[in-house]
Amino acid sequence: MNILILGSGGRESTFAWKIAQSPLCENLYIAPGNAGTGAYGKNIPLKVTDFEGIGNFVLQNKINLVLVGPEEPLVKGIHDYFLNHDELKTIPVIGPQKDGAQLEGSKDFSKSFMEKYNIPTAASMTFTLETLAEGLTYLKHHPLPVVLKADGLAAGKGVLICQTLEDAQTELKLMLAESKFGEASSKVVIEEFLTGIELSVFVLTDGKNYLILPSAKDYKRIGEGDTGLNTGGMGSVSPVPFADEAFLKKVENQVVIPTIKGLQKEKINYKGFIFIGLMNTDGTPNVIEYNCRMGDPETESVIPRIENDFVEMLEAVALGKLKDIKLQISAKTAATIVVVSSGYPGEYIKGKTITGLENIKESIVFHAGTELENGLVKTNGGRVLAITTLQDDLFKALQQATADAGRVYFDGANFRKDIGFDLL
Ligand code: AMP
Ligand code: GLY
Repeated sequence: MNILILGSGGRESTFAWKIAQSPLCENLYIAPGNAGTGAYGKNIPLKVTDFEGIGNFVLQNKINLVLVGPEEPLVKGIHDYFLNHDELKTIPVIGPQKDGAQLEGSKDFSKSFMEKYNIPTAASMTFTLETLAEGLTYLKHHPLPVVLKADGLAAGKGVLICQTLEDAQTELKLMLAESKFGEASSKVVIEEFLTGIELSVFVLTDGKNYLILPSAKDYKRIGEGDTGLNTGGMGSVSPVPFADEAFLKKVENQVVIPTIKGLQKEKINYKGFIFIGLMNTDGTPNVIEYNCRMGDPETESVIPRIENDFVEMLEAVALGKLKDIKLQISAKTAATIVVVSSGYPGEYIKGKTITGLENIKESIVFHAGTELENGLVKTNGGRVLAITTLQDDLFKALQQATADAGRVYFDGANFRKDIGFDLL
């Protein structure tokens, strides 16, 4: 098979690494890819939202399957583009159509979906500019802290946790009346604050059948001890020690099954990954959010623990035969440390030369924000490298990944040395 992966981050590097190991894959392409993905396939300089360019490439290169990494092309309808095109419609795209991608693309949609299908989540109400006055009054009676969420995609910045009524009212006005997050905040979900410990559960579905992939925990804040600004993710571990069998059974019965059934009832033919962001409150799962894709850097910890042929799994999704796949999961623990550019998640400088990659022997280096320039590997993003190791236990995995993150060098390289140590 010829396979095209869309995206350029650590998640897509991991997909490429895994797919390249499958005897079913003849030619692998990654668009646009990064300095690392070139080791697994051929990088193609196409933007993930250039549907026409992607469609032409797929036809010219006889691609048999497209795996979409990030949410943006899904929410913008790349799968629908293929289905509406005579020559592309038979080529499987792994990732939902626009209707299914709303689980991530619209918080208002996902909250209504959860309410309709009795999926446990924080209580909420949605407001628009027309109902701003009601929203301000609603906040007066809401316990603190209170969570405000822009309805649409806001590059991970659309969630605000407000500690005071004044702050919440100011933010609600900024979002609805002054388009703080542009079109994304033309609707705002006001939501109850959940306490507990967060984790992510990943589901792969063909629309009828589903597989629950290993769970993972990511570390979003830039600073050690979970302090400072939110990032795309500074590290991850899988499995999650506090997500035991009993908890995961609750997640399956209360969240996964009703989600798959709900999608069917809504006539949403969902083929792809569902990322379920959960809060574990004293053993009870509550959904914080859905994403219509895999997580990053969770993918870097989850995929290396899957022992199956990944291409077989993706083919089964396309054919609606996922029930034929028996997941084989490594008992080992995976830990991932993300090495980021100085200044990230604020402004940072690109183009720094990366050295020391050859010093890493016990971990896999998944490139994220990197590019090749005259044979040198240079930084090209905030999150630069994801270093993943698989070890017999959590402690060994954390020690190894943290040590290996210290073995690469570029000017201003930064990483957290405390990833996962809270779980020991
Ligand atoms: P999201 O963009 O939906 O992933 O939200 C970003 C982060 O905000 C989540 O990972 C949580 O840490 C936090 N968050 C979102 N909703 C809630 C909530 N209802 N209660 C507590 N924390 C929340
Ligand atoms: N690591 C969180 C995300 O992928 O959204």
